[in-house]
Amino acid sequence: MEPLLIALPKGRMADQSLDLLQRAGISMPNGDFGRKLVITSADGALRYIMAKPTDVPTFVEYGAADMGVCGLETLRESGRNVYEPLLLPFGHCRLSLISPTDRPDTPLRYESQPRVGTKYPRLTMAFFRERGVNAEIIALNGSIELAPLVGLADLIVDIIETGNTMRANGLAELRVIMHSQAVLIVNRAAYRLKADLIQQVLTALRAVLETNEQTSTRNVNV
Ligand code: PRP
Repeated sequence: MEPLLIALPKGRMADQSLDLLQRAGISMPNGDFGRKLVITSADGALRYIMAKPTDVPTFVEYGAADMGVCGLETLRESGRNVYEPLLLPFGHCRLSLISPTDRPDTPLRYESQPRVGTKYPRLTMAFFRERGVNAEIIALNGSIELAPLVGLADLIVDIIETGNTMRANGLAELRVIMHSQAVLIVNRAAYRLKADLIQQVLTALRAVLETNEQTSTRNVNV
């Protein structure tokens, strides 16, 4: 049988994804990734690929991977057409509009062509368009907080997890654009063609997530 291909996002969410899959009893990559980008499981049933987080939805939409893990905000920014059957309990953050603390927080409709630095140009454009604000979007690839500090942008749209990066750079959150967390995505054709394998993975993951929920509810009740 063809192995099931799972795309993991390089970086902080890769370990959390593998940890969850392992707890669900799903066969793990046979060895460490190191510089390797593809690893098959010992039983040959699964093949893991390590992709840049923003590319995971692309690999999955095109069927280069059958399923993958990415942030909900990355998926929405990508606009890729995939199934998203399961939210996963990590990667919690929010995509927010952020400004220097010394910039007055005027109602957005009074903003006149603000320059906005971001890694999320589509979501940022939609956010301002919905509010009738003609923003100039400056697409960046990282260290977004730098943009207002050196006069490249008036505002930024970026991810906030702990808020430490924002505060350390004299910035403040103005508006939450969306809440995000990790999501499991599945290629639409694979969902039918590899239905058995995919359902096995989904059922195993759901069982772990339900156990987690019960444990955390019990903890709250204690
Ligand atoms: C992300 C994001 C913020 C930071 C937020 O950057 O772009 O800079 O994390 O996290 P915090 O609220 O916990 O400080 P990342 O570390 O992915 O690197 P990047 O700046 O190169 O995008």
